[in-house]
Amino acid sequence: MYAIAGVTGHTGTVVADSLLARGEPIRVIVRDEHKGASWRDRGAEMAVASLDDDVALAGALRGTQGAYVLLPPDATTTDFFGSRARMIDAIGRAAVRAGLPHLVFLSSIGAHLPKGHGPIGAPYLAERSFEQLGMATTFVRAAYFLENYGAVLPAAKQDGVLPSFLPAHFTHAVATTTDIGRTAAQALLDGPRGRRVIELSGPTDVTPADVAAALTELLGRSVKVIEAPLDAVVPTFVSFGMSPHMAEIYRQMYEGFIGGGVTWEATGERVRGSIEVKEGLRAMLS
Ligand SMILES: NC(=O)c1ccc[n+]([C@@H]2O[C@H](COP(=O)([O-])OP(=O)(O)OC[C@H]3O[C@@H](n4cnc5c(N)ncnc54)[C@H](OP(=O)(O)O)[C@@H]3O)[C@@H](O)[C@H]2O)c1
Repeated sequence: MYAIAGVTGHTGTVVADSLLARGEPIRVIVRDEHKGASWRDRGAEMAVASLDDDVALAGALRGTQGAYVLLPPDATTTDFFGSRARMIDAIGRAAVRAGLPHLVFLSSIGAHLPKGHGPIGAPYLAERSFEQLGMATTFVRAAYFLENYGAVLPAAKQDGVLPSFLPAHFTHAVATTTDIGRTAAQALLDGPRGRRVIELSGPTDVTPADVAAALTELLGRSVKVIEAPLDAVVPTFVSFGMSPHMAEIYRQMYEGFIGGGVTWEATGERVRGSIEVKEGLRAMLS
């Protein structure tokens, strides 16, 4: 039995689907039981628990061979690091209380670095905390999600533009959440291996210009990158409803990427998924 958090989100859905497809028993962890109903219909057990409630979470983890957890984003928080620290603490206490044999955590490129990467500071803190628990941990350090480009697909479709805070010819690692979820599911099946780090990206690194070229083919219309300055990150994200606090943290992330500081540690396993950018974008457009 494997416990899986985030099953209404990008990666958790894939983890749960992958394990069910292999006939593995799963227990989905949801905050609201209605959100677990479709999984229960497919044969999953369901536990209702928030990732910041150590008592309920311990109940959700008890008796499982391994669990997939993540630190969910929170666009409106005014205390990102404080709220993530409380969640990290609760996950750790729950895992210990439940006697969990293996914790698979969705981490990030750059999570070995203490600073200079905005929200990646949260998985940095989580890794440091979870490795003190005395249990087997697998950190799936994922590249920049291809799905981050999803926010600008409407502009590509309607206006033929791809607004980007990353420079048009800036090469960066990218991963689809399908490859990430499949890798995490495989890590659960692999079982405990002490402290394991998997640094994961898709088959090919890309530039925003590559993404625009792939969209040009897929949409049958010219799509060009429009570079936006870093000063535009906060007002843009705030206009989408994000808190100024969180928007500033994302600005720091873009600054870290562009400055070249957000990199792989390259001491653990370096894994490349199978989904090419064009294929991933096609799925996002469908
Ligand atoms: N974006 C990137 O480029 C990138 C790169 C590397 C790593 N990451 C990591 O990936 C994470 C996002 O993963 P994702 O895309 O799979 O997530 P997602 O699609 O945003 O889904 C978040 C999931 O967490 C659940 N959730 C939210 N708050 C919860 C709580 N308090 N207790 C229990 N469950 C809760 C949500 O359930 P509800 O339906 O209840 O809301 C949802 O299922 C980021 O936060 C970051 O740590 C991101």
